[in-house]
Amino acid sequence: RMPSLAACYNLMDFEAVARQVMKKTAWAYYSSGADDEITLRENHHAFHKIWFRPRVLVDVENVDISTTMLGTPCSIPFYVTATALGKLGHPEGEVVLTKAAHKHDVIQMIPTLASCSFDEIVDAKEGDQVQWLQLYVNKDREITRKIVEHAEARGCKGLFITVDAPQLGRREKDMRSKFSDPGSNVQSGDDGIDRSQGAARAISSFIDPALSWKDIPWFKSITKMPIVLKGVQCVEDVLRAVEAGVEGVVLSNHGGRQLETARSGIEVLAEVMPALRERGWEKRIEVYVDGGVRRATDILKALCLGAKGVGIGRPFLFAMSAYGVDGVNRAMQLLKDEMEMNMRLIGATRIEELNPSLLDTRGLLGG
Ligand code: FNR
Repeated sequence: RMPSLAACYNLMDFEAVARQVMKKTAWAYYSSGADDEITLRENHHAFHKIWFRPRVLVDVENVDISTTMLGTPCSIPFYVTATALGKLGHPEGEVVLTKAAHKHDVIQMIPTLASCSFDEIVDAKEGDQVQWLQLYVNKDREITRKIVEHAEARGCKGLFITVDAPQLGRREKDMRSKFSDPGSNVQSGDDGIDRSQGAARAISSFIDPALSWKDIPWFKSITKMPIVLKGVQCVEDVLRAVEAGVEGVVLSNHGGRQLETARSGIEVLAEVMPALRERGWEKRIEVYVDGGVRRATDILKALCLGAKGVGIGRPFLFAMSAYGVDGVNRAMQLLKDEMEMNMRLIGATRIEELNPSLLDTRGLLGG
């Protein structure tokens, strides 16, 4: 029997329910990671290498967890990251996430490979709700130019270019479950696609493996949206991103779905922030992290290290697949409640007060 929504007390609970109720192919696509799923497991595990050093006797009666990301105010420092094929989990697809994001004043990143059309997802937003676009760059740059210009015209406030997927990783769980998704709005369209390689590979053949740093000026020339590189994984590339003049990076390994045994985003963050501070560059770029964020304590650790915000993927997919919009709303509310409580418990009242002295990071390589 399906447990009631009220019995979900944390984000992991949604995953357990989703696993029971989702179609096998959908579960395989959402939950899988590359190869042996070592990076997938490491993503959440890495947060456990960091411990808090809370401060006491701080007046924490009033706690404010709101912040800004790319200049946009939002209620809490996480965003709904881009995850493809929303209709595998719920018949209405990504607009379910749009509705919950609106209710909670959270930013949503729209995936290139959404099941709903881009315009459906933009049409579903309300008031001054903010959305970003995640971009897979097409070999045909005119197609990419049209997507970017259209997104800007429709009010998107950030362009997240995925840079960790010149070729899609091997997600074997996904490959084993034969893919067919008639409802999806996938870009490739041509039918030379080999669907026996799983959902991910079936839809990604248009992505340009020749994308390089040389392309960044072109992106800057076609849009005024802030540009963020999603999937940066070492300090050298973050410094290069600053020099390239982009507004942000997401330290991410694509939820453990790309390079197996890539490091977790939080581990990379510990390497990146000291180098930025050393150069006085920490205000020149916004640094985001995703992968394995399941608790507000995870969010707090990333922010103490210097992240501007974190992305969360699978938990909202699982909440949506199990319980629809009510599930996503509850997942977001649980995170807000955890966040407020844990701010009090570490002795911080505002996001600006979070800093590395609140952490013991000796367990991380970048210590
Ligand atoms: C993703 N991710 C992703 N990223 C991207 O840039 N474009 C995409 O189309 C997708 N699609 C996608 C599908 C699914 C099912 C998952 C789980 C992930 C990666 C995503 O944006 C993000 O990096 C991770 O999901 C973050 O890790 P968690 O929160 O899922 O652990």
